[in-house]
Amino acid sequence: MVKQTFDELQTLLTDKGQQQLLRFWNQLDDDQQQELADQLRAIDFDQLAGLLAGEDDSPGLLPGQMAPPRAIRPGQPRTTDLPGESLEEAVAIGEAALRQGRVAMVLVAGGQGSRLGIPGPKGLLPIGPLSGRSLLQFTIDRVKAVSDRYGSQIPLMIMTSPSVHEATSRFLLENDHFGLDADNCRLFCQGSTPVVDARSGKILLAAPGVVALSPDGHGGMVEALGRSGFLDDLASRQMDIIFYAQVDNPLAQVCDPALIGFHLSAQSELTSQAVKKNDAMEKTGNIVAVEDHLEVIEYSELPESLARATCPEGELRFWAGSIAVHVFSRSLLEEAARQGDWLPFHHAQKQVPFIDDDGNLQEPAEENAVKFERFIFDLLPRAKNALVVEVERASAFAPVKNADGSGQDTPTTAQNAIIALHRQWLLDAGVEIDDDVPVEIHPSWALRAEDLLEQPGLPGAIHEPTLLTRDDTTDNPHD
Ligand code: UD1
Repeated sequence: MVKQTFDELQTLLTDKGQQQLLRFWNQLDDDQQQELADQLRAIDFDQLAGLLAGEDDSPGLLPGQMAPPRAIRPGQPRTTDLPGESLEEAVAIGEAALRQGRVAMVLVAGGQGSRLGIPGPKGLLPIGPLSGRSLLQFTIDRVKAVSDRYGSQIPLMIMTSPSVHEATSRFLLENDHFGLDADNCRLFCQGSTPVVDARSGKILLAAPGVVALSPDGHGGMVEALGRSGFLDDLASRQMDIIFYAQVDNPLAQVCDPALIGFHLSAQSELTSQAVKKNDAMEKTGNIVAVEDHLEVIEYSELPESLARATCPEGELRFWAGSIAVHVFSRSLLEEAARQGDWLPFHHAQKQVPFIDDDGNLQEPAEENAVKFERFIFDLLPRAKNALVVEVERASAFAPVKNADGSGQDTPTTAQNAIIALHRQWLLDAGVEIDDDVPVEIHPSWALRAEDLLEQPGLPGAIHEPTLLTRDDTTDNPHD
């Protein structure tokens, strides 16, 4: 039996030019052989061959083809191709959709905390300045608060990756899904792609009996959602709007009615929130128009001369920084899942430890390998009537990308942004707050600035660190 397996794999891998993956076969015990065989059988070698031949690279752009995206921007006149609704009208449309139970949410949370110096999933990073709530809980608390407000159950589908799935699942169970109904807080796991040697294209081994795999990018969500059956479930519940955010942004305006409202009034299949870039070289994706569609061009792929180009009024021409908050029509995701090949694979050069021919683990000092990832925003060119809606950065974007000490987009900068926003809400509502006193508002207490005016528990003055939360939530600033 074991000999048969070896022969079968040997034939397969020789045919694909990847027979090096079996070089330690005889040193593996039965279980390890079985695991390796399972891993190898799951690899799509034809797809990989296409990737190595460069078939699925994203197409290069001619600078002349690019223009600023069609966008709703505060204080700017609307062109005729944009919906005419005011912000208030869009909010009303979005609120009606929420009340009718048409909205579901996907949170992508496949990332690990290693770059931030924490073991396990990135989503478990404590971020609440006073509550210590994790990144994951920030989204869950908002989903719960929005559901409560509109009297509907918004299903939250959290995408994990193989390396964080178990830990994320355990965390949610241990915390009773932070008050969400377990049926409406579900995990699904994205797929993996093999990691190859950058020069030879040979698949690397992470251990003698383990193929080096990496998550297939947040674009893997399309295939994984389709596989999970959740899209069918949403269809049977007549939910046609899917709100998308990343776990690394604690200020994401979860299920923002304005974004949903503009999405609906524009009959858009994909609507993206954007901020005005802080500076030309800011490390966000750029949302741009190319001919008749929208695209995201990563900061690393936008030529500097274009990134720095300005309009006659002096503003950056390509102003729209993607904050990775989107509204999808369910039908677009269904069609993308059915087609399977709409999202191209991007090639990323990375430093990846591997097992050498002698069976020793090598830890390369420079980039030695290529990973293949799909990006969800590559659905933009496929979307009818795609639209950008600008949002004020301070109220919607505080990404956690780097460990403290590296200056930008760290846990500390995100916590400061949360405190600054909530402080501003309180000041605008007439509350006196001593200088340098941190505050944090739990979404069960207020979801947005306007809520404060109707909040019976609004304090007149704040002199010490204060977490404003409903009594029945368990957070304690002194834990
Ligand atoms: C991303 C966007 C960038 C945008 C910025 C906003 C890409 C390539 N770029 O940059 O356009 O301006 O966010 O913050 O996405 N994730 C998974 N599975 C994966 C890969 C990522 O779930 O296989 C999740 C991570 O948990 C993370 C998020 O997606 O929350 C972002 O991915 P990351 O690779 O960190 O993208 P950025 O470079 O931060």
